[in-house]
Amino acid sequence: MNLVCPRDRTPLRDGVCEQGHEYPLVDGVPVLLVDEEAPTHAACGKVEQLPPPVREGIDPFVQEVIGATCGRLYEHLIADLPDYPIPELRLPAGEGRTFLEVGSNWGRWCVAAARRGYAPTGIDPSLKGVQAARRVAEQLGVDAQYVVGDARRLPFADASFDVVFSYSVFQHFSKLDALAAFDELGRVLKPGGQSLVQMANLYGARSLWNQARERRFREPRTLFDVRYWGPLELKRELESRVGPTRLSVDGFFTLNPQPTDLALLPARYRAVVHASEALRRAAGVVRPLTLVADSVYARSRRG
Ligand SMILES: C[S@@+](CC[C@H](N)C(=O)[O-])C[C@H]1O[C@@H](n2cnc3c(N)ncnc32)[C@H](O)[C@@H]1O
Repeated sequence: MNLVCPRDRTPLRDGVCEQGHEYPLVDGVPVLLVDEEAPTHAACGKVEQLPPPVREGIDPFVQEVIGATCGRLYEHLIADLPDYPIPELRLPAGEGRTFLEVGSNWGRWCVAAARRGYAPTGIDPSLKGVQAARRVAEQLGVDAQYVVGDARRLPFADASFDVVFSYSVFQHFSKLDALAAFDELGRVLKPGGQSLVQMANLYGARSLWNQARERRFREPRTLFDVRYWGPLELKRELESRVGPTRLSVDGFFTLNPQPTDLALLPARYRAVVHASEALRRAAGVVRPLTLVADSVYARSRRG
């Protein structure tokens, strides 16, 4: 991993940069946070201490945070998760290409990327999340690297990755923080590299209902509240910071509708995911449907 100082981007040697900034290694994990930066949103879940690992079954950290990382459809599974929900990555086969996941938590997308042939690195400000991700990767026999760090100050040299991916992370950031993170995505991508970012759409039917019911269209109250983006605004900002951008549907009626997780969901949620998938396929033909999806992907190519 080509690590640099998140403050001045000079190379790190034994955790110290050329300007003398020092970063600890905790339990073998590089912790590359910048203390003077105000936090974005709280780490997922309220796990005070990393629970000890289990020999078999699902990691207890994942059992506790599953509702926070995967959303409302998964809340009934807290402490009762029978299997790891590993989603399908909507990217071509990796063939060894480098993949960065920003906001990786316990690493479900890094596992998906490794299984798709990428060489994944995950970054998250939550040390406990990263420690759990390392345990999960080891348990599942997957090669993935993890560091603790912040999307707004990625500790990687310019043009380090072929693909940068982020899911359910920037939708919780203030707009200014998200723009700083988009700049970083463009910086660490190789020329011709691709970013894939999931966001919540301002004009999704469920999004509109949530904004009306939960906050009467007022500004978010907590750091974790979802920030909704207009699709054209999202496209414009990514185009100016990363490169040509195309929007596609992730899903309708909810955030994080994963067909790969159907077996984990009760009938009423399975119906939501099936309906979402049917509309996603329809949007492949009737493109304007993308503008009213609840969860969208923005795919950008760095020039
Ligand atoms: C809803 S969880 C999603 C986790 C993962 N992407 C997934 O889909 O399973 C949001 C994640 O964003 C991380 N996060 C919060 N602030 C961040 C920041 N400034 N930079 C990178 N990740 C951040 C949190 O720690 C948390 O793990």
